Amino acid sequence: MYKSCVAAVLAALYWLSAPASAAEGEPIVIKFAHVVADDTPKGKGALMFQKLVEERLAGKVKVEVYPNSTLVGDADEMQALLDGKVQMLAPSLSKFDKYTKKLQVFDLPFLFDDEAAVQRFQNRETSRDLLRSMADSGIYGLAYWNNGLKQLSATRALVNPEDAAGLAFRIQPSAVLEAQFNAVGAKPVRLAFSEVYKSLQSGVVQGAENPWSNIVSQKMNTVQPFITESNHGVLNYMLVTTSKFWMSMPFAVRSELENIVLEVTQTVNKEAAALNQRDRERILASGTSKLITLTPEQRQAWREKMMPVWKAYEADIGADVIRAAMTVNRRR
Ligand code: LMR
Repeated sequence: MYKSCVAAVLAALYWLSAPASAAEGEPIVIKFAHVVADDTPKGKGALMFQKLVEERLAGKVKVEVYPNSTLVGDADEMQALLDGKVQMLAPSLSKFDKYTKKLQVFDLPFLFDDEAAVQRFQNRETSRDLLRSMADSGIYGLAYWNNGLKQLSATRALVNPEDAAGLAFRIQPSAVLEAQFNAVGAKPVRLAFSEVYKSLQSGVVQGAENPWSNIVSQKMNTVQPFITESNHGVLNYMLVTTSKFWMSMPFAVRSELENIVLEVTQTVNKEAAALNQRDRERILASGTSKLITLTPEQRQAWREKMMPVWKAYEADIGADVIRAAMTVNRRR
């Protein structure tokens, strides 16, 4: 009893001492940093969030958006969030390794049939629970934002899995993605997103995996003569803040922000696929890269090579989480 009273008092003191964000009369400032361009699903989402906050919470909350790694890059953004230097981020689901292994389920190659399946999973209870999976570190997941499925790109044509052997591929910081490229005899290299174009151009790496929107907005197609339409994995985001910051805001403000988050999330997730299709068309029109379409047999060959990764990471991710993800596919 005594112990729980002490815990309650300490918790109350903690919240009271949280930076209630702003000096008297000043708006609460939300610095929202991300690593991609404005004209991408995440970039547009951040700007829409800023605009709606300006319309509905003028004088109370002010959102500053920092795109393209201008404030923090992907290597240090989570620490910046925890240190209170930024208040909102939307890192890709591959970038939370350090805080939870469960989100790596999204990195498992060929797990989801298509984007609709990913969306179904994000709406399910398992995914809703995963929004709270980093609570011990003080990270508070607000929503899933879609980008899209990843395509393989390289300096040579990737038709069969053997074609990737020996090539260095840029990856996000995820053990599952590392294993995925090891499985086809390629060399995975962890690099910050801001380094990708330069590294492809200089030949430090010869390949990458990205949704169409990231390929075009970073001009990667200009240095990747071959793109295989593999749709082998997903690159979506979690919109995050810290529980300390979020709960420090007055209830009415927080509730309005949550309404706005919901509205923006619905828009981003409705429009992400169309933006990616637009960017796919842009690549075709630019003529920079040859688009390779896999036959069902070729795709199956990639799938078979990469699928052992599921088993290898089952203990980390949780068999229950993987099973829950598999049920959203139409095929069994
Ligand atoms: C990447 O590093 O490739 C992505 O996470 C970038 C992004 O935010 O889409």
